[in-house]
Amino acid sequence: MATADATTSYRLIDGKQTAEDIKAEIAAEVAQLTAAGQRPPHLAAILVGHDGGSETYVRNKVLACERVGFGSTLLRYEDDISEAELLAQVEELNNDPGIDGFIVQLPLPPHISPEKVIEAIRPEKDVDGFHPMNIGRMVAGLPALLPATPAGIVELLQRYGIKTSGQHAVVIGRSNIVGTPVSILLARNLESGNCTVTLCHSRTKDLPAICRTADIVVAAIGRPEFVTADMVRPGAVVIDVGTTRVADASKKSGFTLKGDVNFAEVAPLASAITPVPGGVGPMTIAMLLLNTLRAAKGEVYPK
Ligand code: GUN
Repeated sequence: MATADATTSYRLIDGKQTAEDIKAEIAAEVAQLTAAGQRPPHLAAILVGHDGGSETYVRNKVLACERVGFGSTLLRYEDDISEAELLAQVEELNNDPGIDGFIVQLPLPPHISPEKVIEAIRPEKDVDGFHPMNIGRMVAGLPALLPATPAGIVELLQRYGIKTSGQHAVVIGRSNIVGTPVSILLARNLESGNCTVTLCHSRTKDLPAICRTADIVVAAIGRPEFVTADMVRPGAVVIDVGTTRVADASKKSGFTLKGDVNFAEVAPLASAITPVPGGVGPMTIAMLLLNTLRAAKGEVYPK
């Protein structure tokens, strides 16, 4: 009997196209809102300093706002801004009725506490979903503004019809932004969750052996090509969250974006896999826009 050739049959999970679909859905809703006489949703972004990655992300976030018909404001500061000045700017945005949601791009310079800044954001305007109120509500299974990258991963799995219920998801990396929240979302008692989740990190013993038991691998450690073929069970679904810039003289930009998964080695084994770029990255922006729309509509915190 012929069997499926596991070495050639993987599905590419196209985050770029899925993000475009979501943005088209958002744009249609914005058109409805404005036709009904409401002002369009408005996102503000605070960028401190000149980190190349952060500048690109924030520029893409602002461009994406324009594409869906949102208003956007970019507030730029040099990296010698004091913590007090930044907190005052946050408070100004908190109190500005024309701003539905805002983000403070991370990382911040070492003299500024990211925790203090995040806690200063009003939860109803915290469209990154980083405030302890939103994290607590997410953990409790209450309506919350969800962190964009983890929400984007769950959305990709759902839109590709990838079963999560009863599946073993192994998450590699326990950051506040991705690893920890995605482990919570995948374990929730919801259609989009119901996974058995193992959260692996730098102290995990025999990580490759644990990974080999995964139906779904989420790699979010920020180490280029960390996940190799010997760590992946044939037929597993592989989600790559990595976006490390690696020097590459052959590129005009001088770098190549590398994922946390050795794609060439792992893809032939996987049943489905996200590429880098074009996988999880574009979904983060789409979900940020979705959170801004939800904030503007007062969906989580009624106005
Ligand atoms: N830095 C890396 N990812 C993110 C993100 O999703 N939001 C913010 N604010 N900063 C980041």
